Amino acid sequence: MPTSNQDHWTSAKYQSAASFVPQLTTTVLSYLDIRPTDRILDIGCGDGQLTSKIAQAAPEGQVLGLDASHSFIATANQSHSSPNCSYRLQDCTALSASSSDAVGEGSWDKVFSNAALHWILRPPGTRTNVFHEIHRALRPGGFFVFEMGGKGNVAEIHAAFTAALLHAGGLSIQEAREACPWFFPSVEWMRKTLEGAGFELVKCESEYRPTKLNPETADGSGGIEGWLRLMGARFLEAVDGGKREGVLKEVCDVLESVITREEDGSRWIGYVRLRAVARKK
Ligand code: BEZ
Repeated sequence: MPTSNQDHWTSAKYQSAASFVPQLTTTVLSYLDIRPTDRILDIGCGDGQLTSKIAQAAPEGQVLGLDASHSFIATANQSHSSPNCSYRLQDCTALSASSSDAVGEGSWDKVFSNAALHWILRPPGTRTNVFHEIHRALRPGGFFVFEMGGKGNVAEIHAAFTAALLHAGGLSIQEAREACPWFFPSVEWMRKTLEGAGFELVKCESEYRPTKLNPETADGSGGIEGWLRLMGARFLEAVDGGKREGVLKEVCDVLESVITREEDGSRWIGYVRLRAVARKK
């Protein structure tokens, strides 16, 4: 039967399926405007690759990466920690729930997040609290700088998965909608929510950024299949084990001509990035 809250992540799988994610960060890092003494909290830090890069630019500061994946935090601790860069296992939907209160109140110059909030904000009931907790963590005048999927992000994949869950998976439309693991808000939603949490908006923007997928691999961990298996794991978990490969094949078949460029056979998916800089008043 479907399972939930499994740790799907490993650094190796992420490298095969989506190594471009921590690399396409020039714009959001320029918005972070790292100063040598900055104390920066990284929400949903993954395997720490980008977090350690941030820490190198803040040698007299401190960077703390938080993530809910045991596997990611283990890799981050092993491969990307340094005297000014550490990591902690943390459910970021409940930042103040840590027993040691590592996050603390008003102790960070900046809170950063890249490609993580669309997972963290998926449960509608926790959204307001996430923004309030981030606001609480910042010092007055501190900045919340982030990039995540915005409205319309990977829409072709979202639609193909929903249809395949109905057709090959036998789910109802309601069940198929609930299986979606992502929340991709509009600029308008984000602006209202940040202001409602006590932030002053410096910028909030959306960018359509078609992105070339990693090459296919013999073991299925690269290309569109690897991307779907990792990023769409929770769609697949919504159906019984025996039906999962059928659902996956249908999604791949539907997407084939949509994502493939005629001139060279390369495969691209329609990422939409939502970026914002918000200041704690
Ligand atoms: C993103 O970074 O936009 C993304 C990540 C996982 C699934 C879907 C989108």
